[in-house]
Amino acid sequence: MKKLVVLSGAGMSQESGLRTFRDMGGLWEEYDVMDVATPEAWQRNPELVNRFYNDRRKQLLDCEPNLGHQLLAGLQEDFDVQIITQNVDDLHERAGSRKVIHLHGELKKVRSSIDPELIFDLDGWELKLGAKCPKGSQLRPHIVWFGEAVPAMDEAVEITSQADIFVVIGTSLNVYPAAGLVHYTPSNCPVFIIDPERPALKVKGVTFIEEKAGAGMQKLIDLLANL
Ligand code: OAD
Repeated sequence: MKKLVVLSGAGMSQESGLRTFRDMGGLWEEYDVMDVATPEAWQRNPELVNRFYNDRRKQLLDCEPNLGHQLLAGLQEDFDVQIITQNVDDLHERAGSRKVIHLHGELKKVRSSIDPELIFDLDGWELKLGAKCPKGSQLRPHIVWFGEAVPAMDEAVEITSQADIFVVIGTSLNVYPAAGLVHYTPSNCPVFIIDPERPALKVKGVTFIEEKAGAGMQKLIDLLANL
């Protein structure tokens, strides 16, 4: 089976009702990223940071995977599909995708603030300040904040370098190192980008599908049939 590698971003989940970050009405219009998505913000104002992620988690529990997630999961019948997502939601998994790497963490998990290996599933939406890990430190959202290392990046680069087909869905390609992954694709690997707005990307031979994730995935499936 051909290896089809996907890099997904917030636009993938937009049709499920989750807001993107940088579009009009996006989350970074309402919040300053430095106030809610950095280790310094967590030190300075854990209540605000925790409320931000509790709100995101509560909202996620009311969302369902959309057509894009479902069509992508369906591609596993014909391709070895590996998803590398910047999204912290679990909608790829809930749609049935089996190989998913989360570059920026997972909303439904929490971890120790002193031992990054101590990761736990959170029951329900609420992480309470005062909830401790077994080593006695406050549990924090299992999110890769700005300024923190991206532990899954090496694996993502390795997977990308073996892609037969590379598909980018719903990301503005503003945030590194994730945005640089496309440069690790083999030279003969076709690259498709599904996004209603063309992200600025200087890579030769990219096929743009200027659609939302659901309609774009339908077009992609047609194009893959003729590859
Ligand atoms: P952005 O908000 O930067 O980009 C979203 C992209 O999705 C844009 O290119 C939109 O045009 C596109 N889009 C909007 N609706 C869509 C739809 N229905 N279908 C397909 N595409 C659609 O989000 P990301 O690129 O994912 O990190 O942002 C990357 C990272 O920045 C996030 O993981 C997050 C954020 O700060 C952290 O919080 C650590």
